[in-house]
Amino acid sequence: MPLDHRLQPNPYADISSVVDLAPGQESFRDAALRGLALEQKAISPKFLYDARGAELFERICEQPEYYPTRTEMALLRAKASEMASLIGPNAHLVEYGSGAGEKIELLLAALERPEAYVAVDVAREQLMEATARLATRHPGLTVTGICADYTRPLPLPSAPNGRRVGFFPGSTIGNFTPDDARGFLASAAQSLKGGGMLVGVDRRKDKKTLDAAYNDAAGVTEAFILNLLRRMNRELDADFDLDRFRYVGFYNEAKGRIEIYLESLQDQTVTVAGEKFRFRKGERLHSEYSCKYDIEDFQALAKSAGFQPQAWWSDEKQLFSIHYLSATPLN
Ligand code: AVI
Repeated sequence: MPLDHRLQPNPYADISSVVDLAPGQESFRDAALRGLALEQKAISPKFLYDARGAELFERICEQPEYYPTRTEMALLRAKASEMASLIGPNAHLVEYGSGAGEKIELLLAALERPEAYVAVDVAREQLMEATARLATRHPGLTVTGICADYTRPLPLPSAPNGRRVGFFPGSTIGNFTPDDARGFLASAAQSLKGGGMLVGVDRRKDKKTLDAAYNDAAGVTEAFILNLLRRMNRELDADFDLDRFRYVGFYNEAKGRIEIYLESLQDQTVTVAGEKFRFRKGERLHSEYSCKYDIEDFQALAKSAGFQPQAWWSDEKQLFSIHYLSATPLN
């Protein structure tokens, strides 16, 4: 068992604060045991992001085939001032799944007197480092990290003088099913009422580009997904043999989503946290969906969650989009 990292003090406590809502070890165990017992075995993609997984994901973002990150960054760079004028002055930014915190810098540089930045993420070490770095670079900004699972209801610091504006880049919204995305957006619309939200959304496109983006030649995506089995071996005393599984990732055109699985290469029995699970040869453990949205489809989804779509931006090749949604209810 690794040391409980939540017990380590924040070395940056003098410049930024991190509130720990203890997204638990227990829940990975419960999710794995529950998910492996399902007819269609499945474990939520949020468990891909232990320290190693977060590192591998950063490397995916640098792969030549994985266009979303650099396309979104370029779009943020090019359009940040338009986004900032829609957001307005004195914003209290709330970033869901803040990771290394690089994209927010592009927005902060363009905003007029942003007052506060709240970063929400489950990866505590990365959260401490990223919030400390941001607080150092932006001395007038109140920076808070909340170590939590943002898919659950969150207590947010109060925003007496400013409007709350959510920031959810990276098309992470695509990793929810459309129903779960609606649920998440509906709860965000409540907590951001009177403000708004910027959301990065990957667009539907040709299968060749999408298949390549999730099957990079260097095998980083494969390593990222296989790390889920390694994580179970490390944390849940499991005995997965990684040579007996293969990575499968493809674009399902009819459903408009990437589907990612780990496929068993033979009949086998695996032990996880003392419980045994059988895999047939060819049986797949579902790891992730990455849903892609046309502009109108995403706007309709946002509306059904209580937001008013206000603007959107895309790149020349129409690969990626960023939407600004207003959380001011229509009277
Ligand atoms: C985090 N998320 C938006 C990524 C995606 O593209 O769906 C996760 C990912 N999985 C494999 N490659 C990237």
